[in-house]
Amino acid sequence: MNRARVVIIADLVADRVEPTGCSTDLESVEASYLSEVRASLESSGFTTVVYHHPRQLVETSREHREDTVLSLWAGSESRNRKALVPSICETLGLCYVGADAYAQLLCADKAGASHFAHRHGWRTPESVVVETQHEVPLLDGVRPPLIVKPIREGGSIGILARNYCTSTESARALALELLQQHRQPVIAEEFIEGSEVSISLLGVGGDVQALGASRLEFNGSVTLPPGFIYGVEVKKAGALDRRWVPEQSVLNPELKARCMALFRSLSKIELLRVDGRIRDGEFVLLELTPDIHLGRRASFSQGLVSAGCAHEEWLAAAIVNARDAFRSGSARTR
Ligand SMILES: Nc1ncnc2c1ncn2[C@@H]1O[C@H](COP(=O)(O)OP(=O)(O)O)[C@@H](O)[C@H]1O
Ligand SMILES: [Mg+2]
Repeated sequence: MNRARVVIIADLVADRVEPTGCSTDLESVEASYLSEVRASLESSGFTTVVYHHPRQLVETSREHREDTVLSLWAGSESRNRKALVPSICETLGLCYVGADAYAQLLCADKAGASHFAHRHGWRTPESVVVETQHEVPLLDGVRPPLIVKPIREGGSIGILARNYCTSTESARALALELLQQHRQPVIAEEFIEGSEVSISLLGVGGDVQALGASRLEFNGSVTLPPGFIYGVEVKKAGALDRRWVPEQSVLNPELKARCMALFRSLSKIELLRVDGRIRDGEFVLLELTPDIHLGRRASFSQGLVSAGCAHEEWLAAAIVNARDAFRSGSARTR
């Protein structure tokens, strides 16, 4: 049995009663999620300790020289929030799971990630970025229907069903509202109709060990209603009928090869989700996600189930991978 210790950083929130477009804690960790991750690790023989803020890791770092840090911490308000734990670990010489600060920030910016993916040969939606209210006319550059989103959020923060805009006028009005509400640029993208697919990659040192996929099923069907958005109402309101179904068949050899090349190009990453939609048989990339929900029923885990990896198995492998990379020095990136 494995007796290594895992230091989990998680900002706990009480169960959400009614999330709204203004909620900014949608990526924080619910108690049931934390328990699930701990139980899974402990069943593989790891011991766990939990901190609720990266500051506690700084204060106790001397005790964790032999441990592995696993961050579920979302933070809020700071555009650097996803980079704090990896930066602290890199500075203090601690072993940690997953993307380094560079990859976290690259992927946290929806326009930056899309540009990066496009440069690596992926199909991405047409888009424009609006930084100030004076730039709102730039929206005319994308033909409706389109979707308008805050540029640097995740967990559906600021994304509801109404972000689907069928006219430039409604997109302009929403962009103004989001600019003011979320105090960051917005991105407007061509709306991609199609089924929603999430690709899960697990590996180390740029090499992929497991590659799978899952597809979103809504009201019992993977064919989504026109204009459907997997936003706050669907993702966070427990009552709606939706689930991620393991499905390897969307991964053709060409798509697999592209995933592996992307994984390699991101270097210290270890866990990566490539999210997109299948339109007319072609995968269109919407998002790169290294800050992954590690729950059993989440898309990432369901994708790895399609590749034959159980939750306990891939979570343990991620810890072991991080440890191996740390010991061999390959976790240091240039
Ligand atoms: N260009 C797009 N075309 C169609 N649907 C989109 C597009 N961008 C986002 N969506 C929908 O909105 C959801 C949330 O957007 P996403 O960019 O993934 O934000 P988050 O970081 O909050 O997950 C997606 O899962 C998808 O359903
Ligand atoms: Mg998403």
